[in-house]
Amino acid sequence: MIAGRALLKDYPFYRLNRLLAGLQAGTPSPAMQAAGIHEPLMMSLGEPQNGPPAFIRGIIDQSFDLWGRYPPSNGSVALRQAIVDNLNRRYHLPTGWLGERQNILPMPGIREGLFLIALAAVEGVEAGEAPYVLIPNPFYQPYGAGAVYAGGRGVFLSASPANGFLPDYAGLDPAILRRTQLAYVCNPGNPHGAVAPRAYLHQLLELAIRYNFLLVVDECYAEIYPDQPPISMLQICAERGDDSLNQVAVFQTLSKRSSVPGLRSGFMAAGELMTQEMVRLISHGGNYVQGPVSEASILLWQDEGHVEANRALYRENLAIAAEVFAGYGGFHPVQAGFFLWLAVGDDEDFARRLWQEAGIKVLPGRYLGRSDSDPLTGQDLPNPGEGFVRIALVHPPSITRPALHRIAELLGC
Ligand SMILES: Cc1ncc(COP(=O)(O)O)c(C=O)c1O
Repeated sequence: MIAGRALLKDYPFYRLNRLLAGLQAGTPSPAMQAAGIHEPLMMSLGEPQNGPPAFIRGIIDQSFDLWGRYPPSNGSVALRQAIVDNLNRRYHLPTGWLGERQNILPMPGIREGLFLIALAAVEGVEAGEAPYVLIPNPFYQPYGAGAVYAGGRGVFLSASPANGFLPDYAGLDPAILRRTQLAYVCNPGNPHGAVAPRAYLHQLLELAIRYNFLLVVDECYAEIYPDQPPISMLQICAERGDDSLNQVAVFQTLSKRSSVPGLRSGFMAAGELMTQEMVRLISHGGNYVQGPVSEASILLWQDEGHVEANRALYRENLAIAAEVFAGYGGFHPVQAGFFLWLAVGDDEDFARRLWQEAGIKVLPGRYLGRSDSDPLTGQDLPNPGEGFVRIALVHPPSITRPALHRIAELLGC
């Protein structure tokens, strides 16, 4: 359970900075230096390193005049339509099923939206009676912040090797589900890269309908996969052919797909009422996609070539990881995304050693998860991130290979 707002001070990257403060970074290995790495290597942050697609450069200039106008709070029609077209194409959705105005809300990145949706959907009450917000554990931090600021209580569901990193929402006690107003789902999962199968997604949606809570599905890594595209919750809703989209809010972004985390552009796809509710909330206190950014985003959602090129890079990095850690028991194959979630023993200790001995920065897994107590029994539940480190495979393969070999060396494998 979230104890209160004080918990939010513990942002993972601040904790990492504290952990490494005052420690001298080690020298990169000769193989890393031969690959051009002479400074410490950041493998802690999920920031694509391959640069934005060059073809958006001109459109920012051409849209210069738009800096002089406030953008519309629910995005431009052209951007919303480009998003609908992209979703229809990728997921073979029935034409007309998604309405650009009714169901799509462009956002300046999805981080803020994932936080704000809790404010829109959770009706907070006094502590003790607080509604539950289900959160996978480990988790992307805005989920936890959303629960806290909305006056809810986070209930953390472990994603571990024991359950294939797929939290068991359906196994929760009905007493918890009855008090649940919102459930966050991360698919593909950050940090472990698990992809939810179709049956799992169907079951989740069933659960949300039966207990009437909102399913917030973070599909940030939807387009970073080595072979099979992950199934979107939008496909599940469309296959049902009913009004189940009303129970769902799906978030996707250009940040990883198009290597433009600095552009700040993504969207929410949801039922009409929730879309309106979010537009209302954002109009009062949120932010909009800026005009030139919107024009660039349209081009990016229309193009698949650069996305395939990015995928090829991550595919190669994942193959290198599988090769380097073949035979290492702490390695779990990644189904999607670009993170390696490696079991290493004491995660803080290993991150410190890696920094001091190899000049490589990774994130201790415990910073992404938290210990909890069972809401019904009060029984202590351990932090499932402990013992893992998250390694972002965002560098070119020529750098990834020697860096992973150095990590393997330090692990003794
Ligand atoms: C799981 C997950 N969701 C959402 C985001 C945020 O994406 P955006 O850049 O669109 O805010 C991230 C960014 O790292 C992420 O890892």
